[in-house]
Amino acid sequence: MADDIEKLIRPHLVGFTGYSASTSPDTLKGKVDVPLASLVKMNANENPYGCSPRVLKALAAYRTFNIYPDDGQQELRKMLAGYAGSPAECIVAGHGSNTLIDSIVKLFVGPGDEIINSVPTFDIYSFSTEICGGKVINVNRGDSFAVDVKGIKSAISPRTKLIFLATPNNPTGNVIPPEDIVEIIETGLPVVVDEAYYEFSGETVMPLTTKYKNLIVLRSFSKWAGLAGLRIGYGVFPPLIAPYMMAIKIPHNVSVAAEIAVRESLADVDYLQGRVEAIIKERSRLYDALQEISWLKPYPSQANFIYCAVQKGSAAELHLQLQRKGVLVRYFDKPLVKNSIRISVGKPEHTDAIIKALREL
Ligand SMILES: Cc1ncc(COP(=O)(O)O)c(C=O)c1O
Repeated sequence: MADDIEKLIRPHLVGFTGYSASTSPDTLKGKVDVPLASLVKMNANENPYGCSPRVLKALAAYRTFNIYPDDGQQELRKMLAGYAGSPAECIVAGHGSNTLIDSIVKLFVGPGDEIINSVPTFDIYSFSTEICGGKVINVNRGDSFAVDVKGIKSAISPRTKLIFLATPNNPTGNVIPPEDIVEIIETGLPVVVDEAYYEFSGETVMPLTTKYKNLIVLRSFSKWAGLAGLRIGYGVFPPLIAPYMMAIKIPHNVSVAAEIAVRESLADVDYLQGRVEAIIKERSRLYDALQEISWLKPYPSQANFIYCAVQKGSAAELHLQLQRKGVLVRYFDKPLVKNSIRISVGKPEHTDAIIKALREL
């Protein structure tokens, strides 16, 4: 009977509610006092400058979208190798780095296996683990969201399959000191260092991938290259693991459009780097301006967003009030990210808009 169909779902997924991604501005009709076109979108860590103009031109000129992309990612892996400074055979690209996280978990984690998460952090690590029937072992971060290295080491069990580390971390924006990452890698367990925001921090452990055969480094084109909508990310994997990642990925997992976008972005790195620098400069102006708001506590950030504790009133309410005024931010109200908001760094006019809106409240 159709009504019984839910009984056939894997039992651990019955009632599973998924990942709560930021809402699209289209869903806000009637809920905001400004035209949708003038919304200031500071809720999804997107690049306000867009992608390289070379990408737009090349996509408009391309004619053979009827042909599948190269499933072996030969050219793509070579191009990414040049940018990452790693051998092409160690690189695997995906439809956003999210899908690589999902494949890594699929490769290592079975029912009852464990991953170690340094929380608060990006929710996709636990999302993918739960879908695979794995168990998430959360180790709380300490002061200023520093990773608790000792805590991570003592959380290791015979069932630990992966340790996830985001640096800079989402939503808190802080980086992990390299010596802490090394200490965790030296446990010998597979360690995934997620560097989705690397271009905004300038700090990377990529050179360590030649030394440690248990280190995976993930990167994304969503943020620095402004390609969030096209979906492209990549990882540098140990030589023994990259072929498995290629084997288990969904065929043709990177579109021709995304491959073109990578080529053109990499041909325009100086232009894109200029935009990254503008965002870094704006991050510092936004941080200073947020510090002037007595009831907000912004945390220093090495990413393209700033996490703030809301010290008076409710963050959920603040998010709605800002939304009314046409400024979108992300808010959190979970045990480790209580009553807080995350503001993506935009252009100078976006900083002006949010600061004006906050002052008016
Ligand atoms: C820490 C972290 N890793 C990975 C991603 C996913 O990026 P992508 O757009 O490449 O899937 C994000 C996106 O917000 C992120 O914050």
